[in-house]
Amino acid sequence: MAHTADDMFQIRFDENNQEFSIIGSMRPQRAEDLDGCARLFEQSLRSVTGTLYVNVKRLVRLNNIAFRVLADLMVSAVGSRADLRISVITSSVVGWSTRKFASLRDVNQNIAVEEYDSEFYPGQSFLEEGEFIPILRTQTKLTWRHERGILPRHGMKPGLLVADICCGIGDFAVLAFKEFAPARMVALDHSRSSLAYARRVAGDFGIQGIEYVYGDASEMLLEDNQFDFVTCRHSLQVFDRPELILKELFRICKPGGRVYITNEKNSHCLGEPRADTIQWTYNEVAALWAHFKMDIELGPKSRRYMLDAGFDDVRMESFMVTNLDGDPQDFADVIQSWEDVYAGRMAVERGDSPEFIERFRRGFQDHIFAALHPKGYAGWPIWVASGRKPA
Ligand SMILES: C[S@@+](CC[C@H](N)C(=O)[O-])C[C@H]1O[C@@H](n2cnc3c(N)ncnc32)[C@H](O)[C@@H]1O
Repeated sequence: MAHTADDMFQIRFDENNQEFSIIGSMRPQRAEDLDGCARLFEQSLRSVTGTLYVNVKRLVRLNNIAFRVLADLMVSAVGSRADLRISVITSSVVGWSTRKFASLRDVNQNIAVEEYDSEFYPGQSFLEEGEFIPILRTQTKLTWRHERGILPRHGMKPGLLVADICCGIGDFAVLAFKEFAPARMVALDHSRSSLAYARRVAGDFGIQGIEYVYGDASEMLLEDNQFDFVTCRHSLQVFDRPELILKELFRICKPGGRVYITNEKNSHCLGEPRADTIQWTYNEVAALWAHFKMDIELGPKSRRYMLDAGFDDVRMESFMVTNLDGDPQDFADVIQSWEDVYAGRMAVERGDSPEFIERFRRGFQDHIFAALHPKGYAGWPIWVASGRKPA
């Protein structure tokens, strides 16, 4: 950690990944204040072959003095070594950084600048372009009936500092806010359209206590050890590397606090009558998600993920959303929205044949049939896990 009068930043070099990271706020008064950083950069270069990655994803502030020092270091490094490339990795979460560092590409073409989160996980376009909004609305309506009773068993109670990471359109945050009256609530997501929606909903309900934040769950700008209770619902299953998110959830949770996650195992969705076609379709859903590097089967694996991430007192339970929970039409609406996105968009993008898509759609329609049938039963199972960050 390097400190100067009015700024604070960390610099690190990871030799395995050839990655030089700068985190925090870098606002020196004089260029010489960055001599330590310059020394580490030059030392690091000695062990680098090929490409050096300069990670500024969590560099939140940078004054002109610091930018000039970093720019000089990089430009002179590539200028003096023909074999060397530098790739600067920025994030859209820090608004100015891609634009600022992009100017270095014009100075030397061996410097590349990449905004890593514009295409950083395979299912991103499905999740961030607003198509999931109707799905998330109806899903939360159904799951909340169960979770409002489950949450206290995992440590939720009034007066806590709570964060909902990957909050989507924020319905859960609003419901939890109203039910459990947290002392503070932060809700973070990487979809601008979902956050805009969330802010509008909170405004309509006259709720002012939720801070909606644009961010990347795998590299949050939130500080360590801040929250008593961190939730992350239906989201580890959309990442190709869920352990990275879990590491961040662990980091922002206070020692002694708890992290609460929910995930699915879609192949266990069920219905009667027409059980077989329903089963076939949901096995195919799992394969389709896997094609896009998402694991909609993650639910029962949560315990392992939590233990591997360092949590203790891991509690696990599952519940089944069914057509009998309330109005069966609500259940049918969820299934219809799955069909629209999974068959109407994802299968098409995978290049599936019209015959496959027709058969794929049939299972969703049969699930709806089971849900609305006077003697039918339809279910969607969900796994809850929570763990305590050791004190
Ligand atoms: C399946 S949705 C679940 C949303 C919400 N938790 C719910 O249960 O309704 C997954 C959410 O993760 C968000 N997300 C995906 N990648 C993210 C990232 N790197 N950082 C923050 N949010 C992300 C998506 O924008 C989406 O809102």
